[in-house]
Amino acid sequence: MLSVKILTAYPDMFPGALKYSIVGNALKEKKWSLDIINLHDYGYDQRKSIDDEPFGGGPGMLIRPDVVEKALLSIDCQNHVTRKLIYLTPAGKVLKQSNLAEFSQFNQLIILCGRFEGVDQRAIEILKFAEISIGDYVLAGGEIAAQVLVEGCIRLLPGVIGQPESLFEESFSNNLLEYPQYTRPQVWNDAQNEDHEVPKVLLSGHHEKIKQWRTNKSIEKTKLIRPDLLVKEKKE
Ligand code: ADE
Repeated sequence: MLSVKILTAYPDMFPGALKYSIVGNALKEKKWSLDIINLHDYGYDQRKSIDDEPFGGGPGMLIRPDVVEKALLSIDCQNHVTRKLIYLTPAGKVLKQSNLAEFSQFNQLIILCGRFEGVDQRAIEILKFAEISIGDYVLAGGEIAAQVLVEGCIRLLPGVIGQPESLFEESFSNNLLEYPQYTRPQVWNDAQNEDHEVPKVLLSGHHEKIKQWRTNKSIEKTKLIRPDLLVKEKKE
């Protein structure tokens, strides 16, 4: 069972999105576990402070390394447990679907959520946290990012998704975006009284043709809005 441990200054932000839908069901069914560790429980003074001013000056405060270390040492780790330590920061490597697949293989994920201006760099290097960003934009802290990362990992665990074959067809699985999908009504009459039909090929019942159409649409869409994915595929 995958055990997820979150180190955060805002424990009330969890489980947040992680208690809903397939991921929340999997949590109830004990397909994974979630423990929240409040960094303030390991604060360095009577007020349970966790942050301090940056040496060299600059705005904001940094989470202290001794606080992160104490919080980390509170997590028990037997020898046979494979663990991955992740620090969520906009200054990290940008998260990809392939990283989620890799992370979901570990027994234990320990995720440190940044707040304030960040974390003392010694904590990251000495305690061996991988610095991961969920995208090229800046959030107020790592808690939402942690939920994004965990949700992405959990849905890849065996038995979490009802139809596992859908994992092979979704966006990024072959460096392509997923093809467009359609449902009823077959002809949608909109508020402007215009009719919009579903592509005919999808109604043909011809599986080979449908498969080909979908592949073509995937390639077309990827070329148009994510050409970088196709370039990457050639390089890899
Ligand atoms: N914390 C703030 N912004 C973030 C981002 N883009 N990814 C991960 N953690 C963050």
